[in-house]
Amino acid sequence: MKFDFTFYNPTKIYFGRDALQNLEQELSRYGDNILLVYGGGSIKRIGLYDQVVDILHKCHKNIFELSGVMPNPLYTKMMEGADLVRKHSIDLILAVGGGSVIDLAKGVSVSAYSKEEPFEKYWLSQKPIDNRIVPVASILTMVGTGSEMNGGSVITHSDKKLKVGRVFPAEVYPKFSILNPEYTFSVPLYQMKSGIFDILSHLMEQYFSGDDDNVSDDLIESLIRSLIKNTKKAIANPLDYEARSNIMWISTLALNTLVGCSKEQDWEVHGIEHQISAFTDCAHGMGLAAISVPYYQCIYKDGLAKFKRFAIEVFGVGTQNLTDEEVAIKGLEALKQFIAESGMVLSIKDLGVKESMIHDIAYSCRLGGAYKKITHEDIVDILTKSYFNNY
Ligand code: NZQ
Ligand code: ZN
Repeated sequence: MKFDFTFYNPTKIYFGRDALQNLEQELSRYGDNILLVYGGGSIKRIGLYDQVVDILHKCHKNIFELSGVMPNPLYTKMMEGADLVRKHSIDLILAVGGGSVIDLAKGVSVSAYSKEEPFEKYWLSQKPIDNRIVPVASILTMVGTGSEMNGGSVITHSDKKLKVGRVFPAEVYPKFSILNPEYTFSVPLYQMKSGIFDILSHLMEQYFSGDDDNVSDDLIESLIRSLIKNTKKAIANPLDYEARSNIMWISTLALNTLVGCSKEQDWEVHGIEHQISAFTDCAHGMGLAAISVPYYQCIYKDGLAKFKRFAIEVFGVGTQNLTDEEVAIKGLEALKQFIAESGMVLSIKDLGVKESMIHDIAYSCRLGGAYKKITHEDIVDILTKSYFNNY
């Protein structure tokens, strides 16, 4: 292990039932023109839209709106936002919603003043930012992505059938994010579970790389154990404030770059899922749930010591009279059982994938991985196992 890294995360987090009280004071740092970005209407149904607009009025802000941001946000929608930013000389982009809304807000921020076509420049070619950007802030209503405290922005280009992630540097991170676990009470159970598996996948994809004695791995195991415990509580009672709070904060910690320090990281499960989403528009976390076990079955032999450790530390698998490989396999069985018991998706068939799509999805994926550099044929195999749920 190198232990060579830079950790810098400038997002200020306001957490708790009264966190929205801090909005007024934060707004005083920015100019008058606010672009309010939100999704399909959930923030109106829970009364949050009215509360935010009241505060903006009280602060004498001019409000411009970009509504209807869809899950798996589209490039065309992002460019609508970029036009609004230029037209109204926007001073702050305030994203109110889940990961899709926040991801899109970051995309708008970097794209509004770009002279080159932004998707090619920032997502496909991953070029450094060379134009003016507009500050982003967020009020989070659905947990999972960590977008409230990172530079991630995943945008779908439907014409190209590509869903591509970009991790922008610290200046694009939200300046502040408001996290009130009560906002998540209204998230439908399916979405809640999807977000929870997203968190788990973020943790596992950083964990399954490197075999050294690394404090990041100790942190990840602890976060996963807590996530599993609180998931059971939240499924039993979605209004359990303590459980929803723990899940919300674990979600932020899972992808605010902290536990990735000095880790190589894998991210192939995410790469494959993004293409499943590009073809089906499925919920991100459910796509991850449907392929994770077959993916790890494909790579575990190349990282056996770590998969054994995962089985013992996360799922409490006993080791007596078992080989390392048998312990590792039991860990993956326990992971599958957690997915099944939690009511998450085990097969991509349940996400709208047709057997005839498997080849095209697999060959549209970028290749990566940590313990094992996987091939397009490996991905065909993973998707086929998931499709027939025979793993
Ligand atoms: O559009 P509305 O009406 O708001 O409904 C949303 C949406 O339909 C609903 N929802 C959100 N908060 C709610 C609520 N419904 C009721 N009550 C509430 N309080 O939930 C649905 C899904 O929202 P979405 O924002 O799409 O979910 P999520 O937070 O899972 O975001 C997924 C997107 O983030 C990307 C994913 O690929 C996907 O495009 N990711 C972003 C990452 C990052 N920035 O670092 C990393 C992740 O790995 C991920 O790839
Ligand atoms: Zn994710």
